Amino acid sequence: MMAPLVLLHQTPDDKLMPIAIQLKQTPADDNPIFFPTDSEYDWLMAKIFVRSADFHEHQLNIHLLHTHLLAEVFAVSLLRNVPMVHPLYKLLAPHTRYTLQINSLARALLISDDGFFMKSFITVADLVMFVTMAIFTSSGQHSAVSSGQFDYGGWMPNAPTTMQLPPPTRKGTTSKATMLQTLPNKGTTVNAMAILRLLSKQSSDLVPLGQYPQDNFSEKIPCNLIKDFQASLQELSAAIKARNENLEVPYTYLDPREVENSAAI
Ligand SMILES: [Fe+2]
Repeated sequence: MMAPLVLLHQTPDDKLMPIAIQLKQTPADDNPIFFPTDSEYDWLMAKIFVRSADFHEHQLNIHLLHTHLLAEVFAVSLLRNVPMVHPLYKLLAPHTRYTLQINSLARALLISDDGFFMKSFITVADLVMFVTMAIFTSSGQHSAVSSGQFDYGGWMPNAPTTMQLPPPTRKGTTSKATMLQTLPNKGTTVNAMAILRLLSKQSSDLVPLGQYPQDNFSEKIPCNLIKDFQASLQELSAAIKARNENLEVPYTYLDPREVENSAAI
């Protein structure tokens, strides 16, 4: 796995084009800087190693750490500290559904235990900010980084999960054959595509953001607040739907109807 350095050029039509790639952090004779002017496969191989590194950064840091593991901290703390009749429990519990279960699976497969520390609150404004962050991380943020994974990485060379040969250490040594040997084999590719597809699919029992089938709250004030929240989400959903009609590729990952309440998959 590489930690590459990439120089990107912003084109006049707002695209980011890679113009130089160094596959390892420290400059060395066996760590050349690759350019688009190098041979086709030197440049393509360098880009594929970058895509593989970006896949791992996305999956482990952006998706797992910044949504799932953070959502788990909220869930455990909630279960340990807040009684089920407390309004904060009623508010946050729907945003923890399945998170412990999916994280337990992820941890068993991917990482060891990690720690986290958060300072117990002083003002109501602090609490509101934290609870908003907890709900957003578990729902919108997770959806933003998880739902598009198959669209973005389902074509394997754009998100190679494993690279089978070391990166090139000299220019002019990569060919189509070595590139194909470096990419993951068919079995690994199919497994990776299946995992990305599973992670990007809606749950069969999806509970969208702002829907609370367990009716934790029965009191009038929170019930009215929930109705207001649902009305705001409907407006947002309609605005996103209207915007998508004019987009070449519709962006649906943050449509509230598609966003799950919790980091559930
Ligand atoms: Fe996820």
